[in-house]
Amino acid sequence: MKIISNPKELKEYLKNNDKTIGFVPTMGALHEGHLSLIKEAIAENELVVVSIFVNPTQFLKGEDLDSYPRKDEADKKICSLSGVDILFFPHANDIYGEDEVSVIAPNVRGYVLEGMSRPGHFNGVLTVVMKLLNIVEPTNAYFGKKDAQQLNLITLMVKQLFMSVNIVAVDTARESDGLAMSSRNVYLSKDERVEALKISSSLQIAFGMVTKGILDSDEIIVKMREKLSGLEISYVEILSREFEIIRHVEIGNSVILVEAKVGDTRLLDNIWL
Ligand code: PAF
Repeated sequence: MKIISNPKELKEYLKNNDKTIGFVPTMGALHEGHLSLIKEAIAENELVVVSIFVNPTQFLKGEDLDSYPRKDEADKKICSLSGVDILFFPHANDIYGEDEVSVIAPNVRGYVLEGMSRPGHFNGVLTVVMKLLNIVEPTNAYFGKKDAQQLNLITLMVKQLFMSVNIVAVDTARESDGLAMSSRNVYLSKDERVEALKISSSLQIAFGMVTKGILDSDEIIVKMREKLSGLEISYVEILSREFEIIRHVEIGNSVILVEAKVGDTRLLDNIWL
């Protein structure tokens, strides 16, 4: 596996390549969720690039940028053992300069749900993803469904800015008890880890209701909120795949999303129906 930290060097290295490129952007602290993105990229492309970059512009003031888990050496080993061809490992000043051009998230879709509790977060996400896609110029880029709003906005950016990369959505990887895998799970104490299970359980309740034919959004949300009681809920929403609020679950076109705080840790999860 080749490790490159300079964007120009990576561009130069990939310049005359005629292979299909699969790209998995990450912020490191790799877990099974990232591995499922990497596996899918390896299965579908001739060359796989993974980036590890804890992007400062997507953290708001007072968020966990400084304490965000960093496991550089372990991450390098994981990438190399998984068959990644190139690890892009830039420093912040390789990616950002002063007085920067940036991508602005849309006024509505970028400021609801997670964007409401983290205003400006998606500007940072879209800007860095645009930069990374321009550096790697992949055929396919892989993102997890757990970050459904991020995935929705990146797909929208690619479409609206007429970019040619294909965005691939990958299913959420879960612990054996159902907790969605996340780099932030390491922040949970033993008791919080148990409490956090209410999130995936609430989605299972929603799934159970839908399979029984109960499709009314309000009815489902009430039951989910009951299950989530004790947690600081940021939102429970039922949306279409286009991220519009829907009054009834439409099988094949719905996503149910939860964001809740367990202790100080904000956790996201969702189910695609
Ligand atoms: O999902 C993430 O890990 C990050 O938001 C991403 C897409 C790598 C951009 O920094």
